[in-house]
Amino acid sequence: MVNVTLNRSTVKKLAKKFLTREQISFIREIYYSVVYPTNLTKLATSYKTDKWNKHWYAQHYQKHFEPLRKKKLNILEIGIGGYANPNKGGASLRMWRTYFPKSTIYGIDIHEKKAHEEKRIRTFQGSQTDVNFLKEVIKEIGQVDIIVDDGSHINEHVIKSFEILFPMLSKNGIYVIEDTQTSYWKKFGGSRYDLNSNKTIMEFFKNLCDGLNYAEFSSPDYIPKYFDKHIVSMHFYHNLIFIYKGENNEGSNMKDERLAKLISD
Ligand SMILES: C[S@@+](CC[C@H](N)C(=O)[O-])C[C@H]1O[C@@H](n2cnc3c(N)ncnc32)[C@H](O)[C@@H]1O
Repeated sequence: MVNVTLNRSTVKKLAKKFLTREQISFIREIYYSVVYPTNLTKLATSYKTDKWNKHWYAQHYQKHFEPLRKKKLNILEIGIGGYANPNKGGASLRMWRTYFPKSTIYGIDIHEKKAHEEKRIRTFQGSQTDVNFLKEVIKEIGQVDIIVDDGSHINEHVIKSFEILFPMLSKNGIYVIEDTQTSYWKKFGGSRYDLNSNKTIMEFFKNLCDGLNYAEFSSPDYIPKYFDKHIVSMHFYHNLIFIYKGENNEGSNMKDERLAKLISD
């Protein structure tokens, strides 16, 4: 009789001997989703999305998304992964599906990704810059509560998708942009020399920060824009931005006449 002690390394060796890589990965996913369903860094590691270990985004997602975890939401991610290979990718869609147990996860990719569809995961093929395609997607989903842009990361694309999709986001929705480092990459339409170039993702969103305070501009000629009136907070992290939608209508501090006199110029 062979006496085998079942420690961690023996289980690993046995698994490698008797199971395929796909089977091991499937078991690992089930294990993580049962043991760590609320831990995004563990889930990101298990599903092998680069939102952890390559980038360090999962910790920020955890902080912003934790209060929403149990809600029934529609979540849309631009960029499914795996590029032209229809069977590759889908890691983050599966991670979100596990983390948000009641939500439906939708993915957009320029390449066909139907292979990743399963319960609570749907995919659409098209470009993140195609207005009609994006409108059709939103029409089909109905209300979208969270949008994550992890697509081409080309500066012009990211800005265009935001301009199209943010107005269609639900009224208290959250829009996230990943990999803003491309703001400094020439090949992606960015610049590391001209940090104020209005064509870059970072400059576009830095400008929107002023809009948070549009009520203080005090110029009677200033007409607030859509983004001024509908962004209530923005959170910048290393290569990652969260933009919160809401009604930015608190009004100005300068309604206080004494204060208005004090600061008039
Ligand atoms: C970095 S991968 C996404 C990874 C995935 N979100 C994850 O975390 O596992 C980027 C994906 O964006 C897709 N993509 C590139 N350009 C696009 C575009 N213009 N519109 C939509 N998707 C695009 C690529 O095909 C690729 O699959």
